[in-house]
Amino acid sequence: MIILKTPEEIEIMARASKLVAETLQALRREVRAGMTTEALDRLAEEFIRGRGGVPAFKGYRNYPKTLCASVNEQVVHGIPSKRVLKEGDIIGLDLGAIVDGFYGDSAVTVPVGKVPPEVEKLLRVTEEALYKGIEQAVVGNRLSDISHAIQQHVEVAGYAVVTDFVGHGIGRQLHEEPQVPNHGKPGQGPRLQVGMVLAIEPMVNMGSSAVRVLEDHWTAVTVDGALSAHFEHTIAIQANGPARILTKL
Ligand code: MF3
Ligand code: CO
Repeated sequence: MIILKTPEEIEIMARASKLVAETLQALRREVRAGMTTEALDRLAEEFIRGRGGVPAFKGYRNYPKTLCASVNEQVVHGIPSKRVLKEGDIIGLDLGAIVDGFYGDSAVTVPVGKVPPEVEKLLRVTEEALYKGIEQAVVGNRLSDISHAIQQHVEVAGYAVVTDFVGHGIGRQLHEEPQVPNHGKPGQGPRLQVGMVLAIEPMVNMGSSAVRVLEDHWTAVTVDGALSAHFEHTIAIQANGPARILTKL
């Protein structure tokens, strides 16, 4: 069942989402060669708790940290560790927070120092694909119109969307119905309605779309070792006009 949110509930979700956005902004300023992903996790937890929020991922299905930090060929769910970032890496920062019982969820992928133009392009195309999806998140469209727009943008650019992980409804739980795939035919699935709140999150591989999960039971990596990028926003579908992006400052 898709749980629609009232305007009041959406305002609470906007506060949770704003805290996520502010935390990500603070983190991306700190990303530099020589630091560990664990240091980023510590900053994220302190930032969220310092502003009255609760980290959403910590303890979720026994996930051990506040942040997901996915470096290079890691697709999503990289666990912060003593790994030291180096110049030319890319790092996905995925974060959730709970405020007054509601979740916000967002992710960005950023370069560590300077990266080659083809890597900048991967990041740009993935973020563009997220916005192409959001553009379709309007009343009257169907869910898979979002999925199709994402896939189309990614494949025209010569990349592959990951199909093993999906976006999701979000609210009083991190993952609610519906699942939001990043691929598919248009015009399928439920009609989009006012009060739906979705976390849309394309994951894009430079090589093949195949991914596997490491022995830590969390870290998803590309099978071919090629780079992968991930961007995510929590959005609310509006009565008129484009969706409201709750995790955008
Ligand atoms: N943004 C991801 C998701 O919605 C992050 C979840 S990490 C987990 O699935 F640890 F919470 F699972
Ligand atoms: Co998510």
